[in-house]
Amino acid sequence: MNFLARRFPALSMVPHVPLAKPTPVQRLDALSASLGGELWVKRDDLTGAAYGGNKVRKLELILGDARRKERDVLIAAGAFGSHHVLATTLYGKAWGFDVHAVLVPQPWNEHVEENLRVGLGAGLVPHPVRTWAAVPPTQAALKASLRLEGRRPFTVAYGGSSPRGAIGYVDAGLELAAQIEAGELPEPEAIYVALGSAGTAVGLAIGLAALGLTTRVIAVRVTPALVCNRATVTSLVASTMHELRSVTRAFPAVGRAALAQLELDPSLYGAGYGTRDAAAEEASALAAEAGLALDGTYTARAFAALVRDARKDRGGRRLFWHTLSSVDLSERAAASPEVPSHIREMAFASTL
Ligand SMILES: Cc1ncc(COP(=O)(O)O)c(C=O)c1O
Repeated sequence: MNFLARRFPALSMVPHVPLAKPTPVQRLDALSASLGGELWVKRDDLTGAAYGGNKVRKLELILGDARRKERDVLIAAGAFGSHHVLATTLYGKAWGFDVHAVLVPQPWNEHVEENLRVGLGAGLVPHPVRTWAAVPPTQAALKASLRLEGRRPFTVAYGGSSPRGAIGYVDAGLELAAQIEAGELPEPEAIYVALGSAGTAVGLAIGLAALGLTTRVIAVRVTPALVCNRATVTSLVASTMHELRSVTRAFPAVGRAALAQLELDPSLYGAGYGTRDAAAEEASALAAEAGLALDGTYTARAFAALVRDARKDRGGRRLFWHTLSSVDLSERAAASPEVPSHIREMAFASTL
């Protein structure tokens, strides 16, 4: 929330906690030479010391909201290896909340296992269910039973993509604009970012539009169209704009401009959420040469879209928005108890 509050002082009243650090931009020289055009990366893998990635910026606002409402337990939901659930657990616990999550099976791999193991080791209370349809009733039942115990639960939106959470990325859009203004990078023509629950792409588009930047935001969809689509994105743009402008009319009415800048790219969805994909694997290997570690579910797909477009039109200036934490959790995982076998077995029967 550093940049928003500076530019629009009234927005400093929106409750938030300080979690995220501004992140650097870097030019990818070797990849620019081999793929074509001018390629850049925004290192949001470095947003936090304990855990980085895009969730940290959203949690600043979400934890701020939960604290302001005097809640003491967070109820999250996500796939077994959810970065959002892990980030909510690590930062939620650090700020004094208990953390529960309703967890849905996904194809199992080492990354999924590490995330879940670290979360459980940090005190996450898991509530595994077999399908996404079971999530809302399970969350509702959990909330009711926690209330009966005298607790004050707070339900966190999927992926942290509530209008409040998205404000974390409005701030990130202003941060990038400040970097452009300071001459750290020229204005890119397009930003490539993974689209899961949409808070990241929506917030960014609003932040850029608010400062008059016309950079396109290519939002590479990795979750089912039923979950994330033009209608859900439009609705999140509208509700995030409402949050901002109900605090201050000094924030410009850029909802339509933001929507016009936001392009949904479904072409990398492949065989489904969390599945393996050849283009994503090639993109991961290219990114690794530039020292960037990507995951197959989100970031490798966004990067694959950038690689494809750079090859097609060798002249453009493109920026990859890195959204995966690069904090090494291997030691922490090894020191955590193994994932209980009943949860592991559910992952292998996954229908996602
Ligand atoms: C690494 C990573 N990148 C991108 C995303 C997508 O962000 P959003 O849910 O804001 O669309 C997620 C969401 O879980 C993620 O974990």
